Amino acid sequence: MFNIEKVDEGNFKDIPHPCRYCLYWQTTGPFDQKMLKPEMGREKREWFNKVVREFGNCASIAYFNSVPTGFIQYAPPKFLPRIEEYASGPPSEDAVFLACLYIVNRKARGKKLGTNMLTNLLDELRNRGIRAVETFARKNSQDNPSGPLELYLKHNFKIKKDVDDFPLVRFEF
Ligand SMILES: CC(C)(COP(=O)(O)OP(=O)(O)OC[C@H]1O[C@@H](n2cnc3c(N)ncnc32)[C@H](O)[C@@H]1OP(=O)(O)O)[C@@H](O)C(=O)NCCC(=O)NCCS
Repeated sequence: MFNIEKVDEGNFKDIPHPCRYCLYWQTTGPFDQKMLKPEMGREKREWFNKVVREFGNCASIAYFNSVPTGFIQYAPPKFLPRIEEYASGPPSEDAVFLACLYIVNRKARGKKLGTNMLTNLLDELRNRGIRAVETFARKNSQDNPSGPLELYLKHNFKIKKDVDDFPLVRFEF
């Protein structure tokens, strides 16, 4: 069974490794896998609480047979300083930026779980009266925080700016 739950204080601990303490989007400058330390979990939680207070829900976990399997994270661009480093940016202030869409277990990929998480997010943001969603999608590869360009083009995102391998795409409600 597959279900998607908003992240709150109660299930924050279920955010899959390493997303629970990854501060890639919350920081600027050099970043590599070695920087993914569990100690950063406290800082991630503080960021999460601040965004929830000022914007509302900003992350969900997908459970497959009760096992945390997927993670999605999004927020207005001002909460995600890493955005500045992308050549096809910046995203518009009227959009929510989709920072991460991740199916953790490789064996679970390619089974439409990512698609489900994306459509669930679009439904949620439509109901919240958000105007648009933007992300940097990667050409010809899923190795990217929010996944491949193909996924977004299939869901009616349009390319807004295309400078390198990470074009900015936008979905307008
Ligand atoms: C990208 C991702 C979220 C997609 O979720 P998924 O459940 O595997 O994908 P779906 O089965 O829903 O497929 C949706 C579409 O995505 C695209 N897609 C999926 N995998 C792809 C790949 N390897 N290359 C290109 N496009 C791909 C396809 O368009 C696919 O549609 P199709 O099956 O009709 O062709 C997932 O594969 C993933 O997490 N990959 C790792 C991404 C990553 O490394 N993120 C870093 C996080 S920090």
